[in-house]
Amino acid sequence: MKRIILGTMTWGSWGKQKSAAQMAKSIETAVAAGFTTFDHADIYGGYTTEETFGEAFELTQIARDQVQWISKCGIQYPCEARELPVKHYDYSPEHIHFSVDRSLQMLRTDYLDLLLLHRPSPLLDAEAVGSTLQELRNSGKIKAVGVSNFTPQQIQLLQKYVDIEWNQIECSLTHDTPLLDGSLDFHQHQNIGTMAWSPLGSYFREDSEQSQRLKTLFKDLCQSYQCTEDQLLLAWLCKHPAQIYPVIGSTQAQRWQQAQEATQIELSLTDWFLMWETGMGHKVP
Ligand SMILES: NC(=O)c1ccc[n+]([C@@H]2O[C@H](COP(=O)([O-])OP(=O)(O)OC[C@H]3O[C@@H](n4cnc5c(N)ncnc54)[C@H](OP(=O)(O)O)[C@@H]3O)[C@@H](O)[C@H]2O)c1
Repeated sequence: MKRIILGTMTWGSWGKQKSAAQMAKSIETAVAAGFTTFDHADIYGGYTTEETFGEAFELTQIARDQVQWISKCGIQYPCEARELPVKHYDYSPEHIHFSVDRSLQMLRTDYLDLLLLHRPSPLLDAEAVGSTLQELRNSGKIKAVGVSNFTPQQIQLLQKYVDIEWNQIECSLTHDTPLLDGSLDFHQHQNIGTMAWSPLGSYFREDSEQSQRLKTLFKDLCQSYQCTEDQLLLAWLCKHPAQIYPVIGSTQAQRWQQAQEATQIELSLTDWFLMWETGMGHKVP
């Protein structure tokens, strides 16, 4: 997988409402910019975005083996497509099989490069889930197994029954918990790849004291490194020795190119700490 992954969460009805033709153009632009991995989930767009993406991909001339598709399962969310009494998580073998088969059908493919369990559930039966995931991998419907938003302990339990290759977690300069709670250390120790969702954190989303402090600092740093603010945020994540793979959510093509280029920025040790200190609002102890 390439270091920067493109998230599709807001391509469809949860955001830009792209048609299949528009998505096809986006896929072609993204691949031309060097992206190969696209992040999906069954639930995106209220269970509709995978279908539009699948239709879109067929409109492109790109071969399936040139790209990797991640999808997720487990969240059952009441919406137009699904009448449910309550939002919940379902990791029964039947639901995992149903969800994978549906993602394959929607994406018009016969395999997923990676399946992630979207969120941990207190009712997840690790042994049953582990053997279901093994079956899916043995059948070739999924190439690899991972989780999302799992703690090290939750991963360890599942690892008794199946190899876990990735954990996709929220991680950014403004959400630095995984740097401090042992998650990134555990991933490195176990050779589990880390993907970071919302890698830009709340920097553009919130007008908080934290983002104002960071924006003031970034004025100088953008000058020094001749880069943009989003590039600084990605470069900060990429410097971590866990080899974090950011999953970016921008829907704008010019930002995709910038994101790729951010992997080339080498922040100095002291600038990395200056960014962290400014994000936290205090010095390291
Ligand atoms: N596993 C999970 O539980 C989970 C949860 C959430 C998300 N995800 C995945 O992670 C992906 C990314 O999440 P995210 O969208 O929160 O990531 P993000 O890359 O941190 O944020 C993207 C947002 O920032 C905006 N943005 C980017 N650069 C900007 C700039 N220079 N100025 C102003 N705004 C800017 C984008 O707007 P524009 O579109 O206008 O560029 C977009 O609204 C999702 O697509 C999904 O695949 C996974």
